[in-house]
Amino acid sequence: MQKAVNMNTSLTSILSEYNFNKPPKLSQQQIETSRPLDKKNLAILGCGYVGSKLAEYWHKQGNFVTGTTTNYHRIASLSQVASQLVVMKGDNLSAIQFLLQNQDTIVISVAPPGNKVANEALYENTYLHTVRNLVKFLNQFSRLKQIVYLSSCSVYGNREGRWVDETSSVAFLERRSEVLYEAEKILLEKNNDKQKVCVLRLGGIYGPGRELIKIFGDLAGMTLPGRGERFVNWIHRDDIIGAIDFARLNQLEGIYNLVSDSPLTIKQQIEQIFSHYNLPSVIWDSSKRVQSKTVAAMPICQRIGIAPLASY
Ligand SMILES: NC(=O)c1ccc[n+]([C@@H]2O[C@H](COP(=O)([O-])OP(=O)(O)OC[C@H]3O[C@@H](n4cnc5c(N)ncnc54)[C@H](OP(=O)(O)O)[C@@H]3O)[C@@H](O)[C@H]2O)c1
Repeated sequence: MQKAVNMNTSLTSILSEYNFNKPPKLSQQQIETSRPLDKKNLAILGCGYVGSKLAEYWHKQGNFVTGTTTNYHRIASLSQVASQLVVMKGDNLSAIQFLLQNQDTIVISVAPPGNKVANEALYENTYLHTVRNLVKFLNQFSRLKQIVYLSSCSVYGNREGRWVDETSSVAFLERRSEVLYEAEKILLEKNNDKQKVCVLRLGGIYGPGRELIKIFGDLAGMTLPGRGERFVNWIHRDDIIGAIDFARLNQLEGIYNLVSDSPLTIKQQIEQIFSHYNLPSVIWDSSKRVQSKTVAAMPICQRIGIAPLASY
């Protein structure tokens, strides 16, 4: 039973109290008693493309899900998929402390707006400030058993299409990947028997609204350099949700690459998509040199036996 915060009042009125972009209005006692002790309390820091779907998945299972957004205008849509929402940024210490109260698990799924164009300072603010603030409070919350951080295979840099696994060294092409790696390290240093830290290094994310046809469709009928033999890394959003839940249930710790378990070359990838959409194939010109940028990562599904949820 909720003592201080009446969850029967309209969600929006409660949520407006949790807007950490403005000073919080709740007392410490109210904050401490606002989450149920008899359910799994699961926090998702960053309810964007992945985070909001994860919130929906856990919420439907009957867990008490606290999600965050930086944008007050997203509350209405997110209120459909979370038990509680907090409007906050990761550089806000009191908001982070509030978020961690009574949680069993926290997933860090933050990314700056306009991912591709975000500058380095914004990257540092989004990832590093957030995790630095988070680790300050970890030993205050003994109920918290699992931390999952979503990172990226971009930390491996350019391997000219060669395969990597979690033991491969990192090699950054840009500061933004280094920031992701520094955030990993800050969190992994806090891993211990009582609080497990699991880092998932994701390939490129696709799924509803981010379909591969939108990414590759413009190449239909074009001539591209090389033979199309380099492997590509993608991961469907549903598989990310499955893997995060697997990590939580099995208290995974350490680093895992998270990519589709059907490794395809770029040529195979494009052929599959174009044949599905009945588009003209790409012509590969092996006389021209390809600028390989990606790595091919061994999939988590194959190595720890998760059944992949999605295929395309
Ligand atoms: N996209 C990819 O292909 C890819 C590849 C590899 C790894 N990843 C990683 O996968 C994760 C999920 O990606 P996604 O595509 O779901 O991201 P997304 O849709 O951009 O969502 C990011 C979330 O982070 C929130 N956020 C932004 N700045 C913040 C800050 N300073 N403090 C706290 N929250 C902040 C956003 O708030 P709002 O709700 O206000 O927007 C949003 O909820 C990220 O950690 C990303 O680095 C992505």
